[in-house]
Amino acid sequence: MVAERKLNEQNLSTILPKHGVVPCQNVYVYVNVYVYTYVYVNGSALGGHNRCAIIRLRVRKRNVGSQFMNIFCITNNKGGVAKTTSAVNLSYALADQGFKVLVIDTDPQCNTTYSLLGNLENAKTLYDVLIDHEPIEQATIPTKHKNLFIVPCSINLSAADLMLASAHGRERRLERALEPVKHFYDFVVIDTPPQLGVLTINALVACTDVLIPFSLTTYSLIGVGILEQTMQELRDNLDLKLPILGVFACLDDHTVINRNVLHSITVRFQDKVFQTVIPRNIALEEAHNQTSSIFEYQPDSKGAQAYMALTNEILERVHHGR
Ligand SMILES: Nc1ncnc2c1ncn2[C@@H]1O[C@H](COP(=O)(O)OP(=O)(O)O)[C@@H](O)[C@H]1O
Ligand SMILES: [Mg+2]
Repeated sequence: MVAERKLNEQNLSTILPKHGVVPCQNVYVYVNVYVYTYVYVNGSALGGHNRCAIIRLRVRKRNVGSQFMNIFCITNNKGGVAKTTSAVNLSYALADQGFKVLVIDTDPQCNTTYSLLGNLENAKTLYDVLIDHEPIEQATIPTKHKNLFIVPCSINLSAADLMLASAHGRERRLERALEPVKHFYDFVVIDTPPQLGVLTINALVACTDVLIPFSLTTYSLIGVGILEQTMQELRDNLDLKLPILGVFACLDDHTVINRNVLHSITVRFQDKVFQTVIPRNIALEEAHNQTSSIFEYQPDSKGAQAYMALTNEILERVHHGR
């Protein structure tokens, strides 16, 4: 009610073009532009006539001091399935809803690092954390978005498998590093390299939930089968739960093959498959080139709409059980 009264007092047109958070005592109203055609607060329509404004207002209590944070590991052994694109845009969308988000780039190709920070020089990175046992706070860098932080990667981590080959507890280094900062973030999003080495295993061990993007191609279908098998081996060998929060389709070109692959994936993963399908959208590629998220680069694009819808589906699943 606090939020409804507050919103009614405001001239809606003044908040429509804005992104951000409107604090109302201990309730926060998150304003996401470009996604929904109706305004709902606590389930009741407030501004259905504002269709052109395309906004969604979300009301929730801020998760301050939460004992639990979700650590998403975005993984797939196959390269080019949109792991990095999803990590960047999902993190940004979560941060934009007022959540405090830490992105961890575990891929020595450093694509997530580049997309969120551009070229990086003389900064501490995940290398210092995993190899030299530096506290993770030392390698955490704020991005230009206020709720979004990143632990960047660096090319020298590509030798991690060799460097950690005989190190004791090497699979648990990231998990241990995250322990002291656990209560500071609402979400941690880990991007992974396209192979199952020590870096991906660290990400899987540290996570609370696995998110699997896949492209709608025949090879991707084979790859997802291999990934499932690998995850089962990890569960057995390292005594991990590794719960799959969901799988989602990316790079949809609306072809017959795409449709058939999606059908096969749905038969295999059933209700784990998110409804949202991310279309192929050149703006997503261009956004990387501009070192921005799709929401900053082209917020009204199909790619932005799809990633916001996916984020909301993920949040529903997190909040209402898996
Ligand atoms: N939905 C999309 N539409 C167009 N290009 C995309 C889309 N998703 C990813 N890409 C592009 O495809 C390439 C591979 O995506 P990326 O996220 O780097 O995959 P991965 O991290 O799995 O290797 C990148 O050049 C990226 O910009
Ligand atoms: Mg990548």
